[in-house]
Amino acid sequence: MKNPRLSWQIQSDRENVLQTAYEIRVADTPANLHRKDDLIWNSGKVESNQSADVVYSGPALTSMQRVYWQVRIWDNRNKATEWSEPAYWEMGLLKPTDWKASWITSSMTEDTTISEPCPYFRKEFSLTKKVKSARIYVTSKGLYQLFLNGKKVSPDLFAPGWTSYNKRLQYQTYDVTSLLEKKNAMGTILGDGWYRGYLTWDRKRNTYGDKLAVLLQLQINYMDGTSETMTTDNTWKEKSGPILSSDIYDGETYDARLKMPGWDKPDFDDSQWNKVSELPDGKDILVAQDGVPVRAADEIKPIKLFKTPKGETVFDLGQNMVGWVRLKVQGYKGDKVILKFAEVLDKDGNFYTANLRKAKATDTYILSGKGVEVYEPHFTFHGFRFVKVEGFPGTPDLNSITGIVIHSDMKPTGNFVCSDSLLNQLQHNIQWGQRGNFLDVPTDCPQRDERLGWTGDAQVFSMTAAFNFNVAAFYTKWLRDLAADQQSNGIVPHVIPDVLHGAGGSAAWADASVIVPWSVYLTYGDKRILEEQYPGMKSWVEYMHGRAGKKNLWLGDAHFGDWLAFATNQSDYPGATTDKDLIATAYYFYSTSLLSKIAGIIGNENDAEQYKKLAGEIRKAFNAEFVTPNGRLESNTQTAYVLALAFHLLPEDKVSKAANYLADDVRKFGHLTTGFVGTPLLCQTLSDNGYPDLAFMLLMNKKYPSWLYPVTQGATTIWERWDGQKPDGTFQDVGMNSFNHYAYGAIGEWMYSYVGGIRIDPKQPGYKHFFLAPHVGGGLSYATTTFQSLYGSVESDWKIQDDNFIYTVTIPANTTATVILPGANSEQLTLNSLPLKSEMKKVVTQQPDGVSMELGSGQYRFHYPYENAKKK
Ligand code: BGC
Repeated sequence: MKNPRLSWQIQSDRENVLQTAYEIRVADTPANLHRKDDLIWNSGKVESNQSADVVYSGPALTSMQRVYWQVRIWDNRNKATEWSEPAYWEMGLLKPTDWKASWITSSMTEDTTISEPCPYFRKEFSLTKKVKSARIYVTSKGLYQLFLNGKKVSPDLFAPGWTSYNKRLQYQTYDVTSLLEKKNAMGTILGDGWYRGYLTWDRKRNTYGDKLAVLLQLQINYMDGTSETMTTDNTWKEKSGPILSSDIYDGETYDARLKMPGWDKPDFDDSQWNKVSELPDGKDILVAQDGVPVRAADEIKPIKLFKTPKGETVFDLGQNMVGWVRLKVQGYKGDKVILKFAEVLDKDGNFYTANLRKAKATDTYILSGKGVEVYEPHFTFHGFRFVKVEGFPGTPDLNSITGIVIHSDMKPTGNFVCSDSLLNQLQHNIQWGQRGNFLDVPTDCPQRDERLGWTGDAQVFSMTAAFNFNVAAFYTKWLRDLAADQQSNGIVPHVIPDVLHGAGGSAAWADASVIVPWSVYLTYGDKRILEEQYPGMKSWVEYMHGRAGKKNLWLGDAHFGDWLAFATNQSDYPGATTDKDLIATAYYFYSTSLLSKIAGIIGNENDAEQYKKLAGEIRKAFNAEFVTPNGRLESNTQTAYVLALAFHLLPEDKVSKAANYLADDVRKFGHLTTGFVGTPLLCQTLSDNGYPDLAFMLLMNKKYPSWLYPVTQGATTIWERWDGQKPDGTFQDVGMNSFNHYAYGAIGEWMYSYVGGIRIDPKQPGYKHFFLAPHVGGGLSYATTTFQSLYGSVESDWKIQDDNFIYTVTIPANTTATVILPGANSEQLTLNSLPLKSEMKKVVTQQPDGVSMELGSGQYRFHYPYENAKKK
């Protein structure tokens, strides 16, 4: 982005703090920030309450330029703060012509129908002058790891990330000033990765091309003011080394006997290395990294090492995780250790990998025989809790392996803890489901021969994801690929990046194009993402418009429907099947009405009006086609009611009737019957329509189908199916049975925003204003919920103690909140242990079901008799 956005947080121990104005200044050094004449930009005093995403509006900056900035604000008592500590940003390479480097590739003939050894590239160079600053700009076709003078340049993994490679390719920028010496060597290893490794269940290879290549540019600025650029070119050398094969699905084979000590340091003899070839490939699709890098985030020690009934030696890490293991081993040269990875054991306690389908998920290490050897693979990852080891020299022990957990390096932002340990485990499982599946793109699952950016899964989970972690940059990147891969007729592919040859256009999946940007907007108040994604959203809605035609009903097309909904083998009740036409028309309505809202937000009044009208027509058609005069839905399923109610498809007089039918159905079954489409909205719809007890009943249910059933079976992540493993230990259909699939984890949003009570206000998104409105139930005696918003920490902490309801909240500076105290009576309420002061009473409204009040920033502790709350 040429005009980055600047955000700041205001800290204060005063209450009711709001920003009324700000001033930003920008300079090329921290010292120049103090010199008026040397400023690059001074915003002047701007009367505004905006403290998030303020666009830099100074003069255009140039490639590689670093600038420092700081801000001060005025508050609602008209007091100015000090200037903030300087922070900085740096521009990337803004024009394709900034790239002086050439793409280089191996000159050897390869058999690209199989995984071949990974190529190593190297180059030595000397410096005579003193270095002031140095950057490497680098990318690759395939994955790369980069070394300078024997050191790994960055902890980033799976760089340059997965984008729609033939349309957008990210490059990374690394500050290498401190790594440079007089004599230097740069080295890089390339892996097949998503570019040309196995992809999809069809074991397709060479999806984006069949040549691995690297493009690198080292920019050195010297103390004397001169500068120099060093690049990949035909003077580099190449050779394959110890990585015999490395593939995302299949794993890696490493022969330590072939190690090349010192290959990435100066004074290495590379006379036997090959010349490289330059490729004429262009640089016009290169973009600075817009997502977050994947990194190692955690290490896990095995909790158990045991022999299975079949005699297999297996480690249990106690957590279904994504990454690999670090192996520590000592033995003879040529000894071969084979590691295999599994999510679960079968009912007899044996190692089970059938659900990985064709993914081999095997790492092989061949020992050099030189002392204690430590090995981690380079370009593969596995989804696993159990590790089977074969060929281990001697006897392995719990120190022989360590689990390395990797994921996109998103900052944790949300937490939910309550008095029920099973719910806490559910929350843990939801968060680990996100960790495992947010690996540069939001994947359906991390273990089998799939691991693709399924749009429907991403759509239903996007709000929960945004509570758990800061996903602003993660989704910004993925949505750019969605826009890049969207077809000219508006069809959004099923998976992004699209590796299914354009297959797409399924209701609730393709709607990710509208709903995911909306989730980002709600959570971060980010208007730019709406502007950026608007053309794609509109063209998806127009595609549906075309399919629905004048009838305004989207009928007859193929969709995934309410994927994996409750099914039985009884002939009179085959399962909770919701008519796909109903789902398609409901989503057509929902995306159209969101599009109308979004058009209004970005100032496109014409479209706002036009799509509002269209939504009204779809609504009418939906009611005529799918709703009886008594408010019954044609598909009498929980999912059908949930969509009609949650999307506000019904006329006023049918809302409570339909809600009644929904409640009846939930009572009749005593459990949920929903799949991917209905599940995320089920509890919220019950809560919003006067049935919070039923929502809690579903949440607390421990029997299949429910969220807690897998928890009672020892799950440590969310399962793809409600009954992935049955109570007798047998498995669901092996063709599709992942134990780490985040979609059903979408219940997290309801836990945060209803049980926890932290609720976004779409009218003032990004927590500029929000609600604190907990729903008490499920026999819980407390729930503590926190969210790190762009303004600071939002906290909602309720507990029932000695017949009292105690509610402690934190509202960050420059925000306001409506607090709703369930069942409270303003006369019996204390605030911070004192009766409400008269000025507080002014903001309090007594409602029939509790007390609501408007509050500014601060920390507040409310206390009132619990009997009142219980009645609610
Ligand atoms: C994936 C799902 C996905 C679905 C499409 C499956 O193979 O794992 O999560 O949404 O296909 O229905």
